[in-house]
Amino acid sequence: MNALEKPASSATAWRGVIHAYASYLPVTAATPIVTLNEGNTPLIKVDNFVRAIGGDFELYLKYEGLNPTCSFKDRGMTLAVSKAKERGASAVICASTGNTSAAAAAYASRAGLKCVVILPNGKIAMGKLAQALMYGATTIAIEGNFDEALRIVRELGETGKVEVVNSINPDRIEGQKTAAFEICDVLARAPDFHFLPVGNAGNITAYWKGFREYHLVGKADRLPRLFGFQAAGAAPIVDGHPIADPQTIATAIRIGNPASWQSALDAASESRGHIGKVTDDEILHAYRLIARSEGVFVEPACAAALAGLIRCVHNKLIPTGSVITATMTGHGLKDPDTAIQSAGIQPVVVRANTAAVMEVIGL
Ligand code: F0G
Repeated sequence: MNALEKPASSATAWRGVIHAYASYLPVTAATPIVTLNEGNTPLIKVDNFVRAIGGDFELYLKYEGLNPTCSFKDRGMTLAVSKAKERGASAVICASTGNTSAAAAAYASRAGLKCVVILPNGKIAMGKLAQALMYGATTIAIEGNFDEALRIVRELGETGKVEVVNSINPDRIEGQKTAAFEICDVLARAPDFHFLPVGNAGNITAYWKGFREYHLVGKADRLPRLFGFQAAGAAPIVDGHPIADPQTIATAIRIGNPASWQSALDAASESRGHIGKVTDDEILHAYRLIARSEGVFVEPACAAALAGLIRCVHNKLIPTGSVITATMTGHGLKDPDTAIQSAGIQPVVVRANTAAVMEVIGL
């Protein structure tokens, strides 16, 4: 065997975030663990991107698109569905801009629970819709936006007949905080700054909880400053009021009245961080740049965090030598339509002969 090879054994195999971080989570030996071996996602150092944006620091992307349903939601969903099963639930329900519904549907299938997802009609990226349907969720598309879907879900939750697995369920936040643990474990320190996109604001809440808990037990040497970014057409936290008709190309974060609004503000202020907004043009620029410069294909919402970082670099807010992490919350293949529309190039169609191909490549 080559010296670089390290075979997976039953002792080292990754068994998901609950097994990895059980002592930090609200689970007991009686909790039936529903997992798809989520977590343990790569932390990718992206020097080309940093050079391209004129920065002088270390940037690592937490590539959450490599989770089992291709977004960070799997971390919270393994716990939310495990706890729902422990409580004897028969059905789970969520409102979603697409990723929560994909994760809920997958974990519910795994657990043998019924799943109902409520989506804003026509505003769900195609890959995410495909996931809900394939996992067999009862999929309801309302003529309204995410905020209206969440209102309906809250009302249904009050009947006591369904378990709500949106991030208003505290188990979701608990599971999602494990991403902060993994970052500290891999870097053997906490970053100086952490950047991430903000929609319903559960994830920024979860990261701040995770970083604080790890700091408290001495597993992280410092607390990072959290920098969250909303899309300009859907920036209620930045604008200071709910947005009735939020609009952005980044449909994942097309949210006008985030459930975890206050805790997002707390995370930003307690960490001496910031919640800002970036335009769709800035999002699309960063979306292409990270794919072209590093081979990292993310969905548009993730690029909001990168666009925010670009702004911070331009405003000289990032000290030289900083260690920065950023969550790339979902995989680029979730939203093939936006990718194809904004790539700026198209396949070149030619006759099926070598000369025609050579002509296109200029040989
Ligand atoms: N990035 C992606 C890819 C998302 O899907 C979401 C949220 C966020 C960022 C924002 O995270 O809501 O915790 O602030 N998606 C939810 C959903 C709303 O229904 O899939 P947040």
